[in-house]
Amino acid sequence: MIKTLRSVRTLGQFIIERQADFPYAKGELSRLLRDIGIAAKIVNREVNKAGLMDILGDLGTSNIQGEDQKKLDVYANEQFISALQSGGECCAIASEENDDIVHIDNEVSKNAKYVVAIDPLDGSSNIDVNVSIGTVFSIYRRISLSGPATMNDFLQKGTDQVAAGYITYGSSTMLVYTTGKGVNGFTLDPSIGEFCLSHPDMMSPNDGKIYSINEGNYVHFPEGVKKYIKYCQVEDDASSRPYSSRYIGSLVSDFHRNLIKGGIYVYPSTYKSPKGKLRLLYECNPLAMIVEQSGGRATDGFMRILEIQPKSLHQRTPLFIGSLNMVNKAEEFMLKYSAPES
Ligand code: AHG
Ligand code: MN
Ligand code: MN
Repeated sequence: MIKTLRSVRTLGQFIIERQADFPYAKGELSRLLRDIGIAAKIVNREVNKAGLMDILGDLGTSNIQGEDQKKLDVYANEQFISALQSGGECCAIASEENDDIVHIDNEVSKNAKYVVAIDPLDGSSNIDVNVSIGTVFSIYRRISLSGPATMNDFLQKGTDQVAAGYITYGSSTMLVYTTGKGVNGFTLDPSIGEFCLSHPDMMSPNDGKIYSINEGNYVHFPEGVKKYIKYCQVEDDASSRPYSSRYIGSLVSDFHRNLIKGGIYVYPSTYKSPKGKLRLLYECNPLAMIVEQSGGRATDGFMRILEIQPKSLHQRTPLFIGSLNMVNKAEEFMLKYSAPES
């Protein structure tokens, strides 16, 4: 007797099936997502070899934020840029690892309709200790009509994203994306080298039992965050408190766990960094689109992340993101104890 095999849907098949869901549905966006998927597989291969290869350690250069770049950050950046370059659907890239816009000015790409903002390797301090890391990306349709992309093409609000997603290189490698019609997750099957649909229609639980924040910075946090942390730690059977504290230190991985299990991730402003640490364009906006598409919420403590008007490529913002009711509660504390004086 022939056994019926469970059908496997690869990322490529899924993208084609769902093409009608894509804004403008012309095929370019599908190809762009496919290109990102290909680069992700190449980066994954190197991430998996990281412990074996002479690829660890600082490269000795700093990015615009003055942070040390690891070799794998540089490698991942090159891979994503190169995949987008040869794909032909993206005319320019804003990357954490490049101070300015990277223009793709070959004949095929220079008039392409999309621009991409990307954090090629997120959580890079975790590379050399074998802890999950990720990639975050955001796709916009350009505003300028033709020729080289302009700064305004990138300074669009998060609400204008046409697609966004992330890859997490963890105990398994997953690609999660949205085009504004729900969120779907794909796990890389290394035996066939394909991302396969494993988490269809991902939904963020409305409540959760996990809070994720770097509590080492407690003394520098705004009063609202301090009070919210104490709230998370109080015993209350009805709301399953105290919550568990979980913090990997890779935004993508912390976010991904909380998306599946229910939880809140907070990177607030601190006295030293009034805008927090995370970058609006290529860290917060893409994850905010994903979380909203799955029923969760993302704010800077007072306002919706997706409605912030960006003013520069590497702009930072505080971030409260995750399960709807948890983010609402944290925001209540911010309003009560840390509202800016008007
Ligand atoms: P990146 O590696 O892209 O620079 O991002 C690191 C970010 C983010 O992934 C993480 O959540 C956060 O930095 C951790 O910062 P702290 O070490 O200050 O907690
Ligand atoms: Mn990052
Ligand atoms: Mn990074």
